[in-house]
Parts: sequence; C-alpha cells; structure tokens
Amino acid sequence: MVFKLSIGFLALATLASAANFRRVACPDGVHTATNEACCVFHELADFLQTNKFDSTCGEDAHEALRLTFHDAIGFSFEQGPSVGTGADGSVILFESTELMDPANNGIDDAIDNLKPLLSMFDVTAGDLVQFAGAVAVSNCPGAPQLQFMAGRPNATHPAALGLVPKPEDPVDMIFARMEDAGFSPTELVSLLASHTIARSDTLIDNRQAVPFDSTPFTFDTQVFLEVLLRGNETLPPASGEAAAQVPNPLAAQGEMRLQSDFAISQSPQTACFWQFMVNNQQAIQQGFHDAMAKLAVVGQDTSKMIDCSEAVPVPVPAVAKQATFPAGTGPELLQLACDSPFPSLATDPGQATTIPECPDGDTNLNDCPS
Ligand code: HEM
Ligand SMILES: *[C@@H]1O[C@H](CO)[C@@H](O)[C@H](O)[C@H]1NC(C)=O
Ligand SMILES: *[C@@H]1O[C@H](CO)[C@@H](O)[C@H](O)[C@H]1NC(C)=O
Repeated sequence: MVFKLSIGFLALATLASAANFRRVACPDGVHTATNEACCVFHELADFLQTNKFDSTCGEDAHEALRLTFHDAIGFSFEQGPSVGTGADGSVILFESTELMDPANNGIDDAIDNLKPLLSMFDVTAGDLVQFAGAVAVSNCPGAPQLQFMAGRPNATHPAALGLVPKPEDPVDMIFARMEDAGFSPTELVSLLASHTIARSDTLIDNRQAVPFDSTPFTFDTQVFLEVLLRGNETLPPASGEAAAQVPNPLAAQGEMRLQSDFAISQSPQTACFWQFMVNNQQAIQQGFHDAMAKLAVVGQDTSKMIDCSEAVPVPVPAVAKQATFPAGTGPELLQLACDSPFPSLATDPGQATTIPECPDGDTNLNDCPS
C-alpha cells in the first residue's frame, strides 16, 4: 500500500514537471512564464493592480480602457502611415500633439497615470497602453479575459488629429472612419460593450462621471438596453456639448445617452446586432474579446509579436443577474429599429434607480478609492 502510494506520488510529480516543462523562471523570482518576454508583463500586472487600479473596475480602470481605443484608432488605410501607425503608444509619446484633438478630451488622466511606468518597466508605450487596458478590464465582473500580444515598436510620430470619432458625429461618418481603420459596423458594436463601464467627465458642464448605463462598474449588457430607452430630458438641458447626447429617461438619476451610441443602435446596418446584445452576456463577451484582440494590434505586424495573454488576470465572474429595465422605465420606452423579437425582461421594482458613483456602491464620487 505504501509502495503504491509512492508510485502514485512519483507519477504525479512527473506530470507536474511535464506541465511546467516549457515555463521559464522570471528574474523577479516570483513568476514563471511561457516565454521570457512575458515576464515583465507579469510584474507589470501586479504593479497596475496594486498601485493603479486597486484591483477594481473603477475610474482609473475605465480610463485605461478608453485609452486603448484612442491610441489604436490613430491609423488609416486610406491615408497611410504618415497619419498614424495604430496601437503604437503615440498617444503617450506625443501627448501634447494628440491632446489637441477635442475627441481626446479627458484622456490626459489615463496618460498621467500610466506614463511614469515607462521608466519603471522595460516595455514600449504601445504595449503599456494595450496591456494596461486588458488588466483594467479584468477587474470588471463579466468581462472576458482579453488577448495581449507583446512587441509593439514605439511610435515615431503622432497620429493626425481628427481620426478619433466624436459622439456628435453622424453615424455614417463614424462607420466610414472605423472601416478606414479595419472595423466593420458590427465590430464597432462589439467594441461599444466598453460603454457598459463608462462615464463622461467632459461633455456636461460642471459634471463629472456621468454614466452611460445604470451599472457602470459591471461588464453587463445594460448599456445595450438603456441606449434603446426613449427619454424626455438631457442632462442638464442644452449645456456642455449638447449635440453629444440625446434625451434619456434616467437624466434625473444622472445618466446620459451618447448621440453616437443611440444612432448606432438605430442604423439599419447595426440595429439588429445591437438588439442581439441585450441580455446576451455570452455575445458581449465573445464579441468584445474578438474585437479588442483586433483593436489592440491595429497597424502592427503580429508575426513579430509574442502572445503574453497569460499575464492578463482572469476576470472577476459575471454578476448572476439578467438585464432589467431600471426602476421607473419599462418596455413602453423601447425605441426599436430591428424587427426581431425583443427579449422579455423584468423591470426593477421601486422608485427610480440610484446609480452608484463608486464600485463599492457608495453614492459619493469623492469617496471612491480609484
Ligand atoms: C463611435 C465610437 C466612440 C465614440 C464616439 C466614443 C465616445 C466617448 C465619449 C464622448 C466618452 C466620454 C469621455 C469623457 O467625457 O470623459 C467615452 C467614454 C469611454 N469610452 Fe468611448 N467612444 C467610442 C468608442 C469607444 C471604444 C471602441 C472603446 C473601447 C475601448 C471606448 C471606451 C470608452 C470607455 C471605457 C469610456 C469611459 C471612460 C471613463 O469612464 O473615464 N469607446 N466614449
Ligand atoms: C520607448 O519609449 C519610452 C519612452 O521614451 C522609452 O522609455 C523606451 O525605452 C522606448 N522603448 C524602445 C524599445 O525604444
Ligand atoms: C420627463 O418625464 C418624467 C416622467 O414622466 C417626468 O417626471 C419629468 O418631469 C419629465 N421631464 C420633462 C423635462 O418633461
């Protein structure tokens, strides 16, 4: 019996070492990696989680995700590399130029947060931006684990101004801009799952952290539902960038609807795919994973890159909740431009929804840790 057990133990030990055979020990003495080039990203993930994101899906995580888009979209098939080389870190390396684009209002927070890490970790600016975004997203319950490929060379010049879509742009202009960077209208819808963890700091006068849905700290499908709800108010009426928003039913609770999100939800090219995302957690996860994998390498030669996705933390699991009409709203408000049957969803009971301002449910922005 003792003999048998030790054979079993040996066999197990052999198996375990076989599983680890290809892993290398990292210089930090803490991590192992499939490829030595990934070691620095294991260390960077720990640093970001501890010192920047507090391992939560808060403001700094949201801003890091937004930055991935604003860097990568600086690319044009039509105009060529002189106007930008995509996910190349130019947004950090040439911030004083790129911040002159009004579409980049507010991204300076994420740049200020991340740029100092360039002198602490041996990574390029483009890798830093895309990796930080992937780590950030892992903190949001329900998010997919994003792919991360390492090896973007540093940008040599800034992206041209005017390449980043704006919320007041006509929908056909937005589709054309995205196509010019390699994205179909439905891929854009998948990317816009990002707006489930998003708030505006710049569009409404004297207001910060204006949420795009009622659950801004959860990677759920509420944004796809709430963008479809007819409202009678903007927030506050005609102040700030008025053309950036359309009326929404939760204005009194502090929510806004982006004109662009609404227009995309109504376009014949995207209305059915938008509606398909409502209450379809699996679809937003898969769609966002695949579209972000593409976004993260815009303009890059992936044959020269190394897959370091293993350094991206495993995301927090989804909250076990179906999509619901927020209290005070309901199916009578739906603005549907697609003929497919709409899912039957419950309405949250009670008075109008209170939208939390911090990930822990606190309703005072000043109390949020990150
Ligand atoms: C049609 C394309 C898009 C438009 C017009 C658009 C517009 C905007 C605007 C106006 C804001 C608010 C910024 C502020 O005032 O602070 C915002 C926030 C955000 N966007 Fe987009 N966006 C688009 C696509 C995307 C994509 C593809 C991503 C994916 C990475 C993304 C991720 C975010 C995130 C995470 C935020 C929240 C930032 C925060 O809470 O601090 N957006 N977007
Ligand atoms: C990329 O640029 C940053 C910031 O200037 C620098 O710290 C880093 O060494 C550069 N990396 C490469 C590979 O040139
Ligand atoms: C919008 O509708 C709500 C609910 O019917 C109502 O309480 C509110 O006063 C309306 N706001 C405006 C500006 O009409």
